[in-house]
Amino acid sequence: MSAKGVDGRTVVLTGASSGIGAHAARQLADRGATVCLIARREDELEQVRTEIEATGGTAHIYAVDLTDTAACDAVAAELLAEHPVIDAIVNNAARSIRRPIAQATDRAHDYERTIAINYLAAVRLTLALVPRFVEQGQGHVVVSSTLSTQVPIPLFSAYLASKSALESFARSLTAELGGQGVTSTIVHFPMVRTEMSSATSIYAAMPMMAPERAAGWIVKAVDRRPARVSRLGGIAGEIAMSAVPGVTTWLTRPFFRRMDEQLSRRTRS
Ligand SMILES: NC(=O)c1ccc[n+]([C@@H]2O[C@H](COP(=O)([O-])OP(=O)(O)OC[C@H]3O[C@@H](n4cnc5c(N)ncnc54)[C@H](OP(=O)(O)O)[C@@H]3O)[C@@H](O)[C@H]2O)c1
Repeated sequence: MSAKGVDGRTVVLTGASSGIGAHAARQLADRGATVCLIARREDELEQVRTEIEATGGTAHIYAVDLTDTAACDAVAAELLAEHPVIDAIVNNAARSIRRPIAQATDRAHDYERTIAINYLAAVRLTLALVPRFVEQGQGHVVVSSTLSTQVPIPLFSAYLASKSALESFARSLTAELGGQGVTSTIVHFPMVRTEMSSATSIYAAMPMMAPERAAGWIVKAVDRRPARVSRLGGIAGEIAMSAVPGVTTWLTRPFFRRMDEQLSRRTRS
């Protein structure tokens, strides 16, 4: 059997209780995957499982705080014991913080709590599965990241640093283990209408991708195993940031400032 495809696969998906993750769980299950769903809110996970089972799919749920290292190790052991083959893990659980660096000078904990879930928990869970992936001769690691690591948007330094670290880990994984069938995909989502983006009130006025559509990007990552899923604009931004980072940052700074001003005006009116 080719390593690609969704039907018949067992996929571990974190952050499956809401937003993009909940939709991805349903879409993967609709396409024949057995999904192992992880998040803290058990009732929400139970709801996703009920919906999947109602349409004939198979879902297992694991209610756990992934930043609790003992609980993370325990859930990894449970997954390995319960599922003889695990084909992919989607590291999608995350938190975001929007705060200017100048207002975070006494808030090092912002950086600690974003990195705890967005990077360290994802790495911890993935590392636990790597020996199984190598033993199987195949395994795929998807990481949910953002367009804003391609062209950095101001005010999200803690969040973006944690996502860049996760991307770097994913790239190293393919570089080191790709020859043994273990690969990764970085998914660069644009703004998506979910609980996470709704936390910033001015974003209510911003056009955003629907979470169902964003979930399709995760399905694509699991199905086809590309190195990256991104908009062309994100790739162009990455090229500009690599070639002329100073100029690109200088040009985008007023653009982002105007965007925030316009959104604030629209939210007030
Ligand atoms: N929305 C956007 O505009 C956007 C843009 C770019 C990238 N992304 C990325 O897309 C992914 C999904 O985000 P979303 O927009 O769908 O947000 P969301 O609805 O807030 O989902 C976040 C998920 O992470 C889980 N989670 C958070 N902390 C956790 C913890 N300590 N342990 C276990 N699970 C935890 C949450 O579940 P519990 O609360 O139940 O634990 C929830 O299921 C994230 O990686 C995000 O960074 C989103």
